[in-house]
Amino acid sequence: MLMAFGLRFTWFEPLLTLFLFLAVVKKGNAGITSSFVRSQWQSFDIPLDNKVFAIPNGYNAPQQVKGMVMMINEALSVHITQGDYDGKAVIISWVTPDEPGLSKVQYGTSENKYEFSADGTVTNYTFYNYKSGYIHHCLVDGLEYDTKYYYKIGVGGSSREFWFQTPPKIDPDSPFTFGIIGDLGQTYNSLSTLEHYMQSGGQTVLFVGDLSYADRYQYNDVGIRWDSWGRFIERSAAYQPWIWSAGNHEIEYMPDVGEVLPFKSYLHRFSTPYLASGSNNPLWYSS
Ligand SMILES: [Fe+2]
Repeated sequence: MLMAFGLRFTWFEPLLTLFLFLAVVKKGNAGITSSFVRSQWQSFDIPLDNKVFAIPNGYNAPQQVKGMVMMINEALSVHITQGDYDGKAVIISWVTPDEPGLSKVQYGTSENKYEFSADGTVTNYTFYNYKSGYIHHCLVDGLEYDTKYYYKIGVGGSSREFWFQTPPKIDPDSPFTFGIIGDLGQTYNSLSTLEHYMQSGGQTVLFVGDLSYADRYQYNDVGIRWDSWGRFIERSAAYQPWIWSAGNHEIEYMPDVGEVLPFKSYLHRFSTPYLASGSNNPLWYSS
């Protein structure tokens, strides 16, 4: 349409083009803090032996560690029926590969000094002939706002330590930086996206669905690619909350291999505070 207009009114075209250009520039800069645009070229899944998927050292060492901070002033978990908490809580999730071990999180506000502990639950599942590791979810509640907590999971030489920062007190004027990520997958482009996000100073990821793209695989490789993705995002997700929602790639309806329970991998691996928001379905909640 602009072309036709320009062809008829050739003297007017440069002026109009300049006007449109300025309008776009003025509008286009609002709120953009990075010039990064992901490559449009097809990217390939990173091989499983790449260091980005490295398995931590030690027998039964916790892996795929991730945290999720709740920002709601209610009872927060399927495991806690008593209400009236003051708000600040985290669900820490991780996987132990060889045996269940403990679902315990030790934590505190100074490094190497864990004054408190919390006990969680453990679950596992199968997908075709793949048998998952032991997936732990542990609610840590009664936390202070705007505070750095150190935490430790696992036992002995295989234990691992991380930290997270709780969000500021809920207030319209509280500054808080979210990242929004969807369709991440585990390609070389995924790694670039994750690294750019981590350099951005974002404090929480709002994940808008399509996590691992493990459904591109078949048979036991589906579960294996969920494990690799868990290790892939740990570099960020163990240190700050990623708030989950599911996409179509989480459905994994694969009747040809006998898997017909939608969202089976996702629901076992990612816990959400759906009960606290009055939902009866972990796929739908507010936070
Ligand atoms: Fe998608």
